[in-house]
Amino acid sequence: EKGGHDYFMLKEIAEQPRAVADTLLGRIDGSGSLRLDEVRIPPHELREVDKVVIVACGTAFHSGMIAKYAIEHWTRIPCETELASEFRYRDPILDQRTLVVAISQSGETMDTLMALRHAREQGAKVLAICNTNGSTIPRESDAVLYTHAGPEVAVASTKAFLTQLVACYLVALYLGQIRGTKWGDEIRTVIRQLSEISGAVEQVLGTMEPVRELARSLAGHDTVLFLGRHVGYPVALEGALKLKELAYMHAEGFAAGELKHGPIALIEDGLPVVVVVPSPRGRSLLHDKVVSNIQEIRARGARTVVIAEEGDEAVVPYADHLIRIPITPTLLQPLVSTVPLQVFACELATARGNDVDQPRNLAKSVTVE
Ligand code: M6R
Repeated sequence: EKGGHDYFMLKEIAEQPRAVADTLLGRIDGSGSLRLDEVRIPPHELREVDKVVIVACGTAFHSGMIAKYAIEHWTRIPCETELASEFRYRDPILDQRTLVVAISQSGETMDTLMALRHAREQGAKVLAICNTNGSTIPRESDAVLYTHAGPEVAVASTKAFLTQLVACYLVALYLGQIRGTKWGDEIRTVIRQLSEISGAVEQVLGTMEPVRELARSLAGHDTVLFLGRHVGYPVALEGALKLKELAYMHAEGFAAGELKHGPIALIEDGLPVVVVVPSPRGRSLLHDKVVSNIQEIRARGARTVVIAEEGDEAVVPYADHLIRIPITPTLLQPLVSTVPLQVFACELATARGNDVDQPRNLAKSVTVE
């Protein structure tokens, strides 16, 4: 049942290209436009949405953080992403024109469920992004967009995360498409690029041996830091979460721009720091700033593990270890940059003798608050 793999997690990592393709299937029509009739919120209501609030926990929260960048860019609708467990215990401002997006692999996470109930009580519309047909969260929502990752057994979420990202991009691009923004041409181009992205995920999976080797060499360390910026920031958080839950190591993700506001004090000789580098194309200013960050931490002794696009030569002098990822549109980069971090955490956990599929103290679905 593990399809020849030692762990479900490895099987699920390997299934990601197909999971991504399946989540896109039937949702892009012949003319390259999105068809999301299954989202039963009528277009005229979606056109009136003036605020999007995303609620989720754990890994699903990280996909929601990335969604914020995509939604605000392509739709110009203000969007906030909030931990479900925080959202329901404050006094959020919601009304009929707020679209709440609840993201959950299992569809049973109590914190997320309570947040969506709270949102509906205030009159907001709730769209669920969920991987489990007929589970409680989609049943209690106004609409649902299913991710087609297939069953995810390992406690650490991998393929569900990538398909949540795809679903979030679909929602962002669809809202952009029906509302018509100045990014119309870009939206059409990105829909086409998204339809081809599973090949890029496959490509990364084919180059993971050096990542495994590196992970094994770090098994004796206590701490690993992760840095990212823009959509690479939630990816850094996700890399750190995977390492905490699987390897039981102290792992922290930071926004690279925050380094000088505190975290740089943690850098000491030999400390492994994984850095997710933005594309040198597009928002190239950010790329250059992150390269400076790598330079700064390396000068203070960090052992740098750099995840950068193919052809990005600027990082080479400062990378103790260089992990290449395919060139993708800026906002879609998390679909490829997350994969090495999953492999890294899985291999490190194995090297430390941990049970990868059933990490201590954790459950696959958290049905209590
Ligand atoms: O089923 P959900 O997506 O609602 O679960 C949310 C989190 O509990 C989940 O993502 C958790 O953080 C994973 N173990 C992360 O790998």
